[in-house]
Amino acid sequence: MQITLTRPDDWHLHLRDGDMLKGILPETTRDFGRAIIMPNLVPPVVTGEDAQKYRARIMAQLPEGSDFRPLMTLYLTEGTDPEDVALAAKSGLITAVKLYPAGATTNSDSGVKDIENVMPVLEKMAEIGLPLCVHGEVTDPSVDIFDREAVFIERVLAPLRTRLPDLKIIMEHVTTKDGVDYVSSSDNTAATLTTHHLIINRNHLLVGGIKPHYYCLPIAKRESHRLALVKAATSGNAKFFLGTDSAPHTDPAKESACGCAGVFSATNTMSCLAHVFENASALDKLEAFTSISGPAFYGLPPNASKITLTKQETPVAYPAKIETGDGPVTVFDPDFPLFWRVDQV
Ligand code: NCD
Ligand code: ZN
Repeated sequence: MQITLTRPDDWHLHLRDGDMLKGILPETTRDFGRAIIMPNLVPPVVTGEDAQKYRARIMAQLPEGSDFRPLMTLYLTEGTDPEDVALAAKSGLITAVKLYPAGATTNSDSGVKDIENVMPVLEKMAEIGLPLCVHGEVTDPSVDIFDREAVFIERVLAPLRTRLPDLKIIMEHVTTKDGVDYVSSSDNTAATLTTHHLIINRNHLLVGGIKPHYYCLPIAKRESHRLALVKAATSGNAKFFLGTDSAPHTDPAKESACGCAGVFSATNTMSCLAHVFENASALDKLEAFTSISGPAFYGLPPNASKITLTKQETPVAYPAKIETGDGPVTVFDPDFPLFWRVDQV
């Protein structure tokens, strides 16, 4: 069995910097044409100038012959200058701006505490048609970690949606049925779904011993939510597309008394997704999810090149870890063998 797809894009990716960037970049450029590059470096990518420099560091590490294009983003802070954002967008340097509620996830300390303080930037973005990527979780300590996405929709996203109907919003890494339902029924709003949230639920994380390599934010929810995500991804609804949120941390940083959040899935994402879509009898919807609906929402053409996915008799081999100059990074383990092989056409 073989299918041919337009080369996929990753609409939510962490490439990091330095030795880590160098070590993990080929894992993405092998299969993907473009990716939205998350700006949560230390210090974050805040200004157009920061993005220019970060883009140059990524380009310098591209494997030979790769025509991968990093789509840069700015990290929204309460000090962000709307004019700097507009300039970076106009020159084609950036594709989106990322909103992290302060303290919501890895390296989000410089994020937004009160959305009122960034309204001038958001208004400018709505005016010029620049999309906003949102980490949709409240940080209120009184809200349970499993409810933080649903509460964010109610407290922050829905009011913002009403206030700026022209702002293009991408609710990133949706993990709940609440998120799926909200996005399905809201204009000018789309969502990315990760590979791992289509595969694991919170039992994978917690039953039979704690599994740090399944810990990410937003945290995996109960099975009924996972099923809602699979249904959205495999439906062909153009509001839902792939953003792996592949987020490398070294093994010592994950396997720790206070382990970092992030799942690294760049290496085997396409094999995992073919498995999920085949199981849902929806292989014919895979290309829309990985290669068509994302560019359509961002107003970009699909990639010109193709890949093939071939189902083998024997499991495909992929490394358990990627060795980087920073240390080893464990690759996402879907907990079942993968039979779909990816080839470049
Ligand atoms: C991401 C990271 O490590 O940068 N971690 C994660 O669990 N997804 C940050 C993020 O996207 O929330
Ligand atoms: Zn992320």
